[in-house]
Amino acid sequence: MRTLIHNAEIVNEGRRFPGALVIDGERIAEVIEGKPKTLNFDLSTSNCIDAEGALLLPGIIDTHVHFREPGLTHKADIAHESRAALAGGVTSTMDMPNVNPPTTTPERWQERMALGQRESRVNYAYYMGVQTLGQTVPWHRSPLKLFMGSSTGNMLVDKPADLLRVFRMAAANPALPIVTHCEDTPRITERMAEAKQLWGDDPAVEHHPWIRDAEACLRSSSLAVTLARETGARLHIAHITTEQELTLLDNEQVTGEVCVGHLLFCDEDYARLGTRIKCNPAIKSRRDRDALRRALADGRLLTVATDHAPHLLSEKSGGCARAASGMPMVQFSLVAMLGMVSEGVLTVERLVDAMCHQPARLFGIRERGFLRPGYKADLVLVRPEEWTLRRGDILSKCGWSPLEGETLRWRVEQTFLNGRLAYQQGRIDDSVRGQALTLGT
Ligand code: DOR
Ligand code: ZN
Repeated sequence: MRTLIHNAEIVNEGRRFPGALVIDGERIAEVIEGKPKTLNFDLSTSNCIDAEGALLLPGIIDTHVHFREPGLTHKADIAHESRAALAGGVTSTMDMPNVNPPTTTPERWQERMALGQRESRVNYAYYMGVQTLGQTVPWHRSPLKLFMGSSTGNMLVDKPADLLRVFRMAAANPALPIVTHCEDTPRITERMAEAKQLWGDDPAVEHHPWIRDAEACLRSSSLAVTLARETGARLHIAHITTEQELTLLDNEQVTGEVCVGHLLFCDEDYARLGTRIKCNPAIKSRRDRDALRRALADGRLLTVATDHAPHLLSEKSGGCARAASGMPMVQFSLVAMLGMVSEGVLTVERLVDAMCHQPARLFGIRERGFLRPGYKADLVLVRPEEWTLRRGDILSKCGWSPLEGETLRWRVEQTFLNGRLAYQQGRIDDSVRGQALTLGT
């Protein structure tokens, strides 16, 4: 079956142009600039989609999600979160290892791949977690995720000898970067003790960026860069939140990810949104947020991901000590980022670069992330339209979003997954399953 999408405004590889695209089976057959003149196209055996007024982009690749399965499925699960992803124009996800049991052995990794194959409505990959006590096995099939700061789950590695070993192991696999969570735990512990003295046992969430502060980020990120330089490992620092850390990136050996929440919000939003926007590393000052936006726009920050980290609202009660850290975002990341395009924060070409092309390049994802003949047909059609996000729109299992009540300027109209129309205007084709991503190519 062939499908023609025509009259679209295509955004791909640094350009924006009116054009058409032909899907044949699960792959892109042609990308046509302008109006197709001589179409080798039999309308009796083909679908034809008139995309007048819509943008056609490669499907989003979200390289940082927590879908919580196995073990934490009261918060989220692969079926719910991947459906939310699909509705948001996200066609591939890379899922983090802090589940229960944590993904720290080849056997557990294989089990998760089997879960993904059965449940995931989008294409999937799983990180290999680095275990405490330095027990990690050498592993080449997926990138390593290293928690150099403690967060949700118990996966902290911070002894210098262990860290050196992990970076050496990462260096032995030049096809993939190691991805790190960088926050200095001794600094955070010290600040938390001080905060409790000042503000009581469970300080209000406004103090979260004071406890998990810029200094904690900079110390840990600097150490990660030193280890990368010492060992030769490629390093991708996850969720960069501060202006100071930007100077550490060289976009060759050391690259940086920024997350949608850290681009949308700043510390002024704690008063309105409370613990809903509590996450680690913390959302910091307006100055930091604006520096992140500029660095994204000019390419110093290479990729945008969500750190989609759902918790139940009941788990978000309390303050800095008690409330869980993390928020759902995967369903609305593309429309939120398109909103920033409309505001003039970045160009739509750069959005596609940071959310599709660069993730594919960085992790060597085979045949995805670009609109190219022969590549898998992972596509999204988006249209400008004002709408207000209501609870009933949310497909994530946790059932809330920090964006509830916000007016958004874009809508995801259709999502194609491996050539199949898997999402269309609120409806998901539940017969469609994702494919395993091939990384490191
Ligand atoms: O806010 C966060 N939530 N940061 C993390 O590092 C982990 C994540 C989670 O899994 O909840
Ligand atoms: Zn995360």
